[in-house]
Amino acid sequence: MIKTKSQEEIELMREACRITRDTLKVVENSIKVGISTKELDKIAFDYIKSQGAIPSFKNYCGYPATICASVNDTIVHGIPSEEIILKEGDIISVDVGAKYKGFHGDAARTFPVGKIDSKVKRLIKITEQSFFEGIKGLKSGAYVGDISNRIQTFVEKNGYSIVRELVGHGVGRELHEDPQVPNYGRAGGGPRLNTNSVIAIEPMVNMGDRHVVFLSDGWTCKTRDGQPSAHYENTVLITDDGVDILTL
Ligand code: MF3
Ligand code: CO
Repeated sequence: MIKTKSQEEIELMREACRITRDTLKVVENSIKVGISTKELDKIAFDYIKSQGAIPSFKNYCGYPATICASVNDTIVHGIPSEEIILKEGDIISVDVGAKYKGFHGDAARTFPVGKIDSKVKRLIKITEQSFFEGIKGLKSGAYVGDISNRIQTFVEKNGYSIVRELVGHGVGRELHEDPQVPNYGRAGGGPRLNTNSVIAIEPMVNMGDRHVVFLSDGWTCKTRDGQPSAHYENTVLITDDGVDILTL
């Protein structure tokens, strides 16, 4: 069942999402050549705590950190490490969630480290744009498959591929609620969304083919072909006549 949120719950989700979004900004401002992903994780942890919230991911199914820090060919769920040091030309996808008074926010961005290749810059841009394509026309009564199909069509038209093993999701008291929101699929497919449903839409876009490998740490998801991948995610409230992007 797809939950709808009460007005009170939505206000709490707004604050959770505000903290989530500001955490991404704080991390972005700390990105520089020579910093480790472990240091970025600490910065995110401290900021979330300073806001009276708690990290949504830490201990979720045993996940050991506040952020997912996924560099270059790591698609998502990269575990922060003092051995992973950012260097000029890298890209890093940062995914973070904050839980405030019982409700989660969830968002991700891919950032450049110093000057990056123009081809990789385009990958980041198309990934971000695919999210905005996905929410075009989205409002109460729309099908989840409409979002999925728009994202897939846009990404593939631009010469990239969509990761299928991981999907977006409802979000609220739980980090992952119904429905699943795939980034590929058929328009008109899947369940319908109602006013006051809240979902996280999160395209993961590969420069090369769509296939992935999972590392033996149980989390890290990389591209099979070693080419870079980008991620963009927002928590979105469905309304009568559109959407409210809570993590923007
Ligand atoms: N945004 C990701 C997701 O919705 C992050 C989850 S990381 C985890 O799946 F550690 F919490 F699993
Ligand atoms: Co998510």
